[in-house]
Amino acid sequence: MTAAELVTITKPDDWHLHLRDEIALQTTVPATSRVFGRAIVMPNLRPPVTSVEMALNYRSRILKHEIPDSNFNPLMTLFLTDNLDPNEIVSLSNEESVVAVKYYPAGATTNSDTGVTNIKNVYPAIEKMAELGVPLLLHGEVTENQIDIFDREKVFIETILAPLIERYPDLKVILEHITTKDSVEFIESQSSRIAGTITIHHLLYNRNDMLVGGIKPHLYCLPVLKRNIHQSSLIRAALGGNPKFFLGTDSAPHARPEKETSCGCAGIFSSPAAIELYTQFFAEHNSLSRLEGFASFFGADFYGQPRNKEKITLERKSWRMPEQYQLGDVPTIPIMAGEIVNWQLKDSAEK
Ligand code: NCD
Ligand code: ZN
Repeated sequence: MTAAELVTITKPDDWHLHLRDEIALQTTVPATSRVFGRAIVMPNLRPPVTSVEMALNYRSRILKHEIPDSNFNPLMTLFLTDNLDPNEIVSLSNEESVVAVKYYPAGATTNSDTGVTNIKNVYPAIEKMAELGVPLLLHGEVTENQIDIFDREKVFIETILAPLIERYPDLKVILEHITTKDSVEFIESQSSRIAGTITIHHLLYNRNDMLVGGIKPHLYCLPVLKRNIHQSSLIRAALGGNPKFFLGTDSAPHARPEKETSCGCAGIFSSPAAIELYTQFFAEHNSLSRLEGFASFFGADFYGQPRNKEKITLERKSWRMPEQYQLGDVPTIPIMAGEIVNWQLKDSAEK
């Protein structure tokens, strides 16, 4: 009998997560708190989370569903709108559990219609953030109709991000869920105040997986999967040990009927197998020694948060991902539904 293949790492954090609200929290919160110590919780609810008070109320609703004794610490964000009062940034900076502001260009993605219509409108808020060290989290895509969907991230870097960083050199910025070689190279070329999160789905898939042989609505997310040269660049960034790149699942569940329709919505529900799949990915690239930095250290360091103290162990042992989860009475299809995952959390209940 061969010895079990195990890997032990410091408890990881998820630096980009959609938990949704109400009854969905019954499923989404345990799916994350079973293994992640902290998560940066996205504010794109309906209505969006636009004040510190709303963020704290949302946090209490989340904490009602954490796994007992997990010490899950949801870190909240505010949704940036054209008229966010810079005083709200001051209140945020006095709250330990509200830590960042999320910028969605208006209409760029799910529940973002009240996002920013012109970056100039939010200069006063951004100036306050730069002054108080509050990170700005970016959904980095332009929305102009004439810009091809596969170029929207690249054009965002050129037209919005580069000038923004030049204007506010002290601003801490995270380009969320990066999908292109352009983002990787841009982040690498900048100061240590600029970082990027990488999802598991952008590491595992490219646009062929979504489109060849028929459209797979459950692989449709934003920013959309790109061609394989971009996927290769993301893989290099994740495995490379550069602290500017760290884990953010962007797990974003949607009801099955809203994905499987003539105009399906964007988002992939990955929390139920997130750390297992990142582990599998690092193992397949013979880079397990780099997993801990990416999953457990670099994000905490960037946010100025302490690294977690607990450890988790994963074991090379296969299990089958369920075909479907229920979010309340809403069926939701997870990443790799019905497929085999090669790693599992040790001591976790048999799945
Ligand atoms: C996210 C969602 O569903 O909230 N969807 C997605 O495809 N990633 C929003 C987002 O992060 O863009
Ligand atoms: Zn997201």
